[in-house]
Amino acid sequence: MNRDTSLRKGDSLELYTPHQPELIIVPTPEQVDQIAAQHVIEQVLGKQDLVLILPTGNTPIGMYDIIANAYAQGAVSFSKARIFNLDEYWPLPWGHPDSYFRYMQERFYTRTDIDSERYHIPHSHVNDPEFEAYLYETLLQKYGPADLAVVGIGPGLTCHIGFNEKGSAADSRTRLVELSEETIAENKKHFSRPEDMPRTALTMGIANILATKRVILLAKGEGKAAGIQRTLEGGIGADAPASFLRFHPNATFIMDRGATHLLSIKP
Ligand code: F6R
Repeated sequence: MNRDTSLRKGDSLELYTPHQPELIIVPTPEQVDQIAAQHVIEQVLGKQDLVLILPTGNTPIGMYDIIANAYAQGAVSFSKARIFNLDEYWPLPWGHPDSYFRYMQERFYTRTDIDSERYHIPHSHVNDPEFEAYLYETLLQKYGPADLAVVGIGPGLTCHIGFNEKGSAADSRTRLVELSEETIAENKKHFSRPEDMPRTALTMGIANILATKRVILLAKGEGKAAGIQRTLEGGIGADAPASFLRFHPNATFIMDRGATHLLSIKP
């Protein structure tokens, strides 16, 4: 299948002008969770039919717990919101315990009132991943641009967002990607059987993330410090895909001290 990664009508050229992201640096990872959850909750309270892009991984676990508690206390509802996940491993059998679908089921979908028709994640079990990427991109185009994307950042100097590894272009869209050796080494630790970890994944592209009205990047711990320094203080380019967020006019980085200790300029 021919993948069209060109800019779409409505994509703003503004996006390709560098901006200084807002930097929020807090002492502890728990405060990152708190502020991130607060942002998501405030946005959905302000716009019930919010279109949200969400990450998986270790970083947002605390954020999801806080959001689930807020829902349990009746403080927020996701019944009219629409959610897209950034990425999913491919191939994995449907409902694999280490799939991102199961992660989202356990941490978010079953703990809030989000309607199953309103959450989307690429399917890990399909035979034709290129076609799945095309379908996911079509859904993103139909309901997007999203109001808010929350993203994590990959391990070490991968600087990946979603599974956009080094080499991902600013105009990349949903597609099948090969995971880097560093990502595989890090993420296989979280698989109950490390040998099950796929070497490929479906991810939305950099252009999908840049098209959102607001982006929040979360980074916790010293393991993210080198990547954060490269992302914020190096050049903008495909060798550090998270650096493309500096093209976004409304990006906020919420980070703890550990993740920012290598930054030379402290806000
Ligand atoms: C996951 C995702 C990845 C992670 C990143 C950080 O959906 O898109 O980019 O956000 O690999 O993972 P953790 O949070 O486990 O350090």
